Amino acid sequence: MVNEWIFANEKNVGEIREEFPILQNKINLVGNDSPVDLIYLDTAATAQKPLQVIEAMSCYYREQNSNVHRALHTLGETATALYEGTRAKVQSFINAEYRHEIIFTRNTTESINLVASSFGSNLGPEDEILLTEMEHHSNLVPWQLLSERTGCKLKFIPINEHGELELDKLDELLTKKTALVGVVHISNIFGTINNIKLIIEKAHFLDIPVLIDGAQSTPHMPIDVQQLDCDFFVFSGHKLYGPMGIGVLYGKEKFLEKMPPYMGGGDMIRSVKLTGSTWNDLPWKFEAGTPNVGGAAGLGSAIDYINELSFDSICSYENMLTKYAGKLLSGIKNIKIYGPAENRSGVFSFTHNDLHPHDMAQFLDRFGIAVRAGHHCAQPAMRKLKVSSMARASLSFYNTRSEIEYLVEKINAAGEYFNNGI
Ligand code: ALA
Repeated sequence: MVNEWIFANEKNVGEIREEFPILQNKINLVGNDSPVDLIYLDTAATAQKPLQVIEAMSCYYREQNSNVHRALHTLGETATALYEGTRAKVQSFINAEYRHEIIFTRNTTESINLVASSFGSNLGPEDEILLTEMEHHSNLVPWQLLSERTGCKLKFIPINEHGELELDKLDELLTKKTALVGVVHISNIFGTINNIKLIIEKAHFLDIPVLIDGAQSTPHMPIDVQQLDCDFFVFSGHKLYGPMGIGVLYGKEKFLEKMPPYMGGGDMIRSVKLTGSTWNDLPWKFEAGTPNVGGAAGLGSAIDYINELSFDSICSYENMLTKYAGKLLSGIKNIKIYGPAENRSGVFSFTHNDLHPHDMAQFLDRFGIAVRAGHHCAQPAMRKLKVSSMARASLSFYNTRSEIEYLVEKINAAGEYFNNGI
């Protein structure tokens, strides 16, 4: 059935998989005579790359490599057009009003650090930042650093045992002291899709800006920052089927204009004297130094790839796969799945009574199944649920129902293996 699923570009899942070179690879397991197929279920950590992304980057380095915004030669203009062209693609991909509201960074983490450091530079002990208990460390530690520097206080929207935000507490947590709300769109542990529209509406009622961590949502659903009306939105290229080392900060012009630069150096200046400098216009004010132009080539190609596939297709296929995985996984003996039953994405963190998550991940790896195990860079959420470690399988449109069936078969086998001690 799965191979018959037709995406908007008229391709079936089998054809889509052929476009990802790594999915054609066999894994050479230590001590195994014959290599096994790769069953990649760790897309929440990083997505695999279609050939066209790899080729766009290779083409850049073979034919277009040059520094941007500096050279008057043809190659320099080509590289600049490519780099700025990707900015235009990102603008349209998330429907930002202005191109200069798109800042290139290294990743989601750097985008959040930029906002914490720059937006947060005027905060003091009387100010509060409202986060949630399910944040990835990348939307927690930058604010802790800011709190140490400025004395601002951090407050948290609690989570319940299903990994959902207790939004009934929001009204009392939002106060006149709240300087910014930072919230993850989709949890990287629970797969919870948070009601960010409600959070943004309530925060804006008190004129409080909101930052959305879209690292796990941008690859799986259409994002419209104007419709959401969020003030900052951040994501990584590598989770969006693009390369590592390039990320995006979207910010409303009215905030970015007022914010001081994050890093100093070339390209972010208008004029420099020995005793002081003035700043370039947006977005370059926030892009000091030579940027990742090859990464921008890859990111632009990844956006083209997703647009061609279409989010209509991606969402319906991934929703089907998520429901199927939820049903099969929850039927396994001695397993506990974390996160909500409904309104969730294809991220399944789980524990098994009979074995430690690290043993589970290593056992699955023997069959070529790649899952993540550990605290998933969200130690406070794990602590709240009184769990030190979980295994996690995360899905993408290139996964199939038969891969999920294989995962379930091998989780069962792991339970038996460790239980029987054979
Ligand atoms: N944030 C990535 C994950 O959840 C690395 O695996």
